[in-house]
Amino acid sequence: MADNSLRKAVVLCAGEGTRLRPLTFSRPKHLLPVAGKPLLGWALESLATAGIEEVGLVVGHRPESIQRYVGDGAAFGLEATYLTQPKPLGLAHAVDSAREFIGENDFLLYLADNLLENGVAPLVEFYAAHRPAAALFAKEVPDPRAYGVLVTEGARVTQLLEKPPDPPSNLAIVGAYAFSHTIMQAIKETPPSARGEYEITDAIQRLVSSGQEVLALCAEGFWEDAGRPAELLKANRLYLDHIAPEILGDLDDRCKVEGPVRMGQGTRAVNCRLIGPCLIGANCTLRDSTIGPHVSVDSGTSITDSRVEDCIIQQDCQLHHLRSGLTDSVLGVQVEVIGPENSAEAPLRLLLGDMSSIRAF
Ligand code: G1P
Repeated sequence: MADNSLRKAVVLCAGEGTRLRPLTFSRPKHLLPVAGKPLLGWALESLATAGIEEVGLVVGHRPESIQRYVGDGAAFGLEATYLTQPKPLGLAHAVDSAREFIGENDFLLYLADNLLENGVAPLVEFYAAHRPAAALFAKEVPDPRAYGVLVTEGARVTQLLEKPPDPPSNLAIVGAYAFSHTIMQAIKETPPSARGEYEITDAIQRLVSSGQEVLALCAEGFWEDAGRPAELLKANRLYLDHIAPEILGDLDDRCKVEGPVRMGQGTRAVNCRLIGPCLIGANCTLRDSTIGPHVSVDSGTSITDSRVEDCIIQQDCQLHHLRSGLTDSVLGVQVEVIGPENSAEAPLRLLLGDMSSIRAF
């Protein structure tokens, strides 16, 4: 590898996504859409942009749907291999399951539920420039107790702790790591943690303790670990804030469009107020409604006589008579929410799995 670049990435998408139930009963969380694209789609695009050529996807929960979405990887400009983690025993264990895929190479580890505004290219470039034993993406957060936490001297990492109750710094580990092959030996030597998992954080601490160079790079722009509904909605807002307007559907002359709105082909809007940023997929029917800001609607959905704000709505949903509003909600595919025709209730906030149906009369 004459140019020092990382070519391989291990992409973890095996988790069950329990904090996103019921949405994750019928699909892995990595296929939940944010601004019209699955989390995994954002992740793979960012890897290809960073020069990664081969991805080893570690799958576990509903692997067939991930395989259907990614295929051989060519659609993303990547070569995809599927790897199975026999049991969910932690991130270091997942990397160990990819030992054969990794071979003797240096590699990137990416947790596919992490969304980074500027992708992983800055980390790949930083690693190629410095060639440490490991380079980690990090970010200051107000409360890092739910993350791995770093103590640093300049760029050099001096200590790592996984989810400490009393964090020694505010520097959280972001789910992207560049590793030299030495991490594989450290993983072999790492015992399970108090919660019974083989932690990648502990394996990296072994590198530090044995005097090897571990460097941290601050990730610029937003970072979301989209593990809960509120984070999924936040990521949706952040991506929508960057969309370029494009209307491919039909609007009648009573429609008003304010701010950036993208609308797919075959969508028809009648007497609607569309407030950007807002993304409406193809073949939707919108009538007598106010939609946006920060709404993404997948194809085939029908919305009438409703007010919708700050929502992720997947394919083929039916939303009718929600005049008092639907807000901060994530709906699965083919969900039906039908309100009473006359209502002055407070707006609804819903998290509904695929094919749910709610009707109020
Ligand atoms: C994992 C890592 C943690 C890291 C986080 C980033 O935690 O163990 O060190 O900060 O990803 O998303 P998890 O979110 O799997 O609990």
